Amino acid sequence: MTETLDIKITPIEKSRVSEYDINNVPFGKIFADHMFVAEYENGKWSKCYIQPYQDVPMSYALSALHYGQSIFEGMKAYKSDDGTVSLFRPLENCKRMNKSAIRMAMPEVPEEIFMGGLTELMKLDKAWVPTSDTGSLYIRPFLISTDEAIGVRPADNYKFIIFCCPAGKYYAEPVKVLIEHHYFRAVRGGVGYVKAAGNYGRSLYPTRLAQDKGFQQVIWTDSETQQYVEESGTMNLMFVIGDTLVTPALSDTILAGITRDTVFTIAKDWGYKVEERKISIKEIFEAHANGTLKEAFGTGTAATIAHIKAIGFEDNIYDLPEIEDRKFSPKIDEYLRNLRKGREEDKHHWMMKVS
Ligand code: COI
Repeated sequence: MTETLDIKITPIEKSRVSEYDINNVPFGKIFADHMFVAEYENGKWSKCYIQPYQDVPMSYALSALHYGQSIFEGMKAYKSDDGTVSLFRPLENCKRMNKSAIRMAMPEVPEEIFMGGLTELMKLDKAWVPTSDTGSLYIRPFLISTDEAIGVRPADNYKFIIFCCPAGKYYAEPVKVLIEHHYFRAVRGGVGYVKAAGNYGRSLYPTRLAQDKGFQQVIWTDSETQQYVEESGTMNLMFVIGDTLVTPALSDTILAGITRDTVFTIAKDWGYKVEERKISIKEIFEAHANGTLKEAFGTGTAATIAHIKAIGFEDNIYDLPEIEDRKFSPKIDEYLRNLRKGREEDKHHWMMKVS
């Protein structure tokens, strides 16, 4: 790539935004006007362009479809009360995408391309950023291999693409989660710590089994001992036990969530006791029995904070305190909403203004 990013822009003739109530659309089904594409061929990144969001003709031999060289990120843009559009900690997504790329034997996406494409796209599609308190523009950067060849090896050609969709709350209500100790999301030495598409595909069957039993999501446990909780659905997992905020320590089976880091940083700012460590199923049940399990929730870009109202394990259900009685998670949920709306001082410089 050259020093300055050369993006060829083909704008849409007429925006589709007025066809929708963007403050009230289902998650991930309505796509904003434009998409950014960067192509990698012959060992280097070549063309970068923005075009109207569209389908692409595709070979059925496309390598990403067969062997899963496919990684993605999830991030969000927010519109503050004065109309400013900002991205939330976008450089963290760029870094994590490249961690995923390395693990999946894919080329890293230069920061200049990731950030340059993203900011140009935001300028073109800013009208798609919802104004509601809980709304945001969900941004999906992803990298796929595009060789037309079914030999198993790292591909020679790739496409990095970004598109966006207006989004409201991911979970409308607090969730019931089932502790899963037969199927696993991630294994030691595997790819659980990166955002590989296959991590999500493998989670669908156990999640469907849990949903058939009346749960919305599962809590994943470690595959070696099945004693320790790791994540919940597509989110990191947190508990308030006694007066301490606790989350499973990062490892190669746990994704380093940006919302996870955000919540922990704020909790420390607020003077909460925080611990990153192993959390056993036994500890959760003991805390439930002695009344010290005050809160459980998931954190993630899509969901932000997803309150857990009950935890199932085998044939038992453990109900958790009412959301109104929780002191930490509703407070941080509100704080994050206000920060993103520009109503709180951004002392960690997490919001990056784009227009
Ligand atoms: C995110 O929170 O961005 C996720 O990765 C969840 C997504 C798969 C909807």
